[in-house]
Amino acid sequence: MAFSSSSYPQELTFPEGFGWGAATAAYQVEGGWDADGKGPNVWDTFTHQGGDRVFRNQTADVACGSYTLWEEDLKCIKQLGLTHYRFSLSWSRLLPDGTTGFINQKGNCFLKIEGIDYYNKMIDDLLANGVIPIITLYHFDLPQHLEDQGGWKSGAIVEVFDAYAQFCFGTFGDRVKLWLTINEPNTLALLGYEVGIFAPGISNSGTGAYQTAHNMIKAHAKAWHSYDSLFRKKQNGQVSIALFSPWIAPANPTSVADQEAAKRVMALSLDLFAKPIFIDGDYPAVLKSHVAAMSKKQGYPSSRLPEFTEEEKRMIKGSADFFAVQYYTARLAKHQENAEGELDILKDIDVKLFIDPSWQVSQQGSWVRVVPWGIRKVLEYIKDTYNNPVIYITENGFPQGDPAPLDDTQRWEYFRQTLQELYKAIHIDKVNLQIYCVWSLLDNFEWSDGFSSRFGLYHIDFENPCRPRVPYKSAMEYAKVIRNNGIKGPL
Ligand code: NOJ
Repeated sequence: MAFSSSSYPQELTFPEGFGWGAATAAYQVEGGWDADGKGPNVWDTFTHQGGDRVFRNQTADVACGSYTLWEEDLKCIKQLGLTHYRFSLSWSRLLPDGTTGFINQKGNCFLKIEGIDYYNKMIDDLLANGVIPIITLYHFDLPQHLEDQGGWKSGAIVEVFDAYAQFCFGTFGDRVKLWLTINEPNTLALLGYEVGIFAPGISNSGTGAYQTAHNMIKAHAKAWHSYDSLFRKKQNGQVSIALFSPWIAPANPTSVADQEAAKRVMALSLDLFAKPIFIDGDYPAVLKSHVAAMSKKQGYPSSRLPEFTEEEKRMIKGSADFFAVQYYTARLAKHQENAEGELDILKDIDVKLFIDPSWQVSQQGSWVRVVPWGIRKVLEYIKDTYNNPVIYITENGFPQGDPAPLDDTQRWEYFRQTLQELYKAIHIDKVNLQIYCVWSLLDNFEWSDGFSSRFGLYHIDFENPCRPRVPYKSAMEYAKVIRNNGIKGPL
């Protein structure tokens, strides 16, 4: 089926039961960084150290104040009419040193609201209002104590993460049925351990991303197996991992070299995680050969990309119940050996990345260029590469600068175009997309950009101690989409 402009449907109705959500993450919204027994995490440390690694040395000590203002968040969720709300648990709020040796619950100290009850209330309130919680166990905020033991660079984290996951499944899994183990391990491995612009700020160029990705994949798989063997029968939920995926197109579409280069970037950004988990327990062959060859050239005794044992491969293969993807933008790839100015891991695959100058800027200076058609490409890629899985888009959004106009008509236009692309993906490409979550419910702490980059459906005044939540126009438009289960014309 092809839509010409005259035959394009005037109303885009999504499949019955389609999930409409919004997402947040603990460190970005909660605040209460040391409240009621919470232990420090790597972002607390990173921001408190200053050093201009975050916009204006801002911290998320208070952020949106969601730790005390949950009821306000719930009002927004109800006003939108969300069917799903995705949020993350602060690992060190539940387990202050990251281990199950010390649980932050009643009786441990003089707590007002202990970590467990905070999340219990959120879950219960959501369910009481007919909203399905999607919980991310870990969204970039590793307990500092664990980082001090080597963090994701150490293989020991696999067991510790599994124990934390089991603790969460056991504590909340009677009510929570949709779980994500790790948020964007690909972003975290690259920015946290290879480039060092995210906490913990480690720049082990050439090795950091591969080494930590390796442990994250194992940790995810182990936690999935724990769910599968210990909880699934009773709880009947689903567990996956949330993967960031840009769309990568060849710089010159007719150049075979550029086409191959684009494929290698998809392999590095998405398939490095998705192929082991969804296909066969092992990394893409093209990456294994490229990294091995480059490592040899550089005089390393073995490839910088670690290898899974056969037993690990068996554990990793098939360790996800749905495909969770997060899309924001696209890039162009050009084949280029030893590209100047590129990251070491892009040099590994002989690629230079570009931005098409015709792609609109969402927020001046942001890495997000507006490429709504890229989301359809990514969905089609996942369908074709990963055997037509059930797909949940667990994040998608557009940033605005600060100050951001409440009348964000232009931004809603980007969302509207995105929804059209999703409609085409479902109806034309037959992609099995079931949930779409906007990033984010609220303006929040955008990592190294601090509060300067606003992704929220609701505006927050970070100068106001009450942190009022005020809907952008996009929030009201999204509410209409949710009410209509799609877009009612005219398009
Ligand atoms: C993905 C991350 O999961 C989220 O934390 C971040 O705020 C958004 N991308 C926007 O950059």
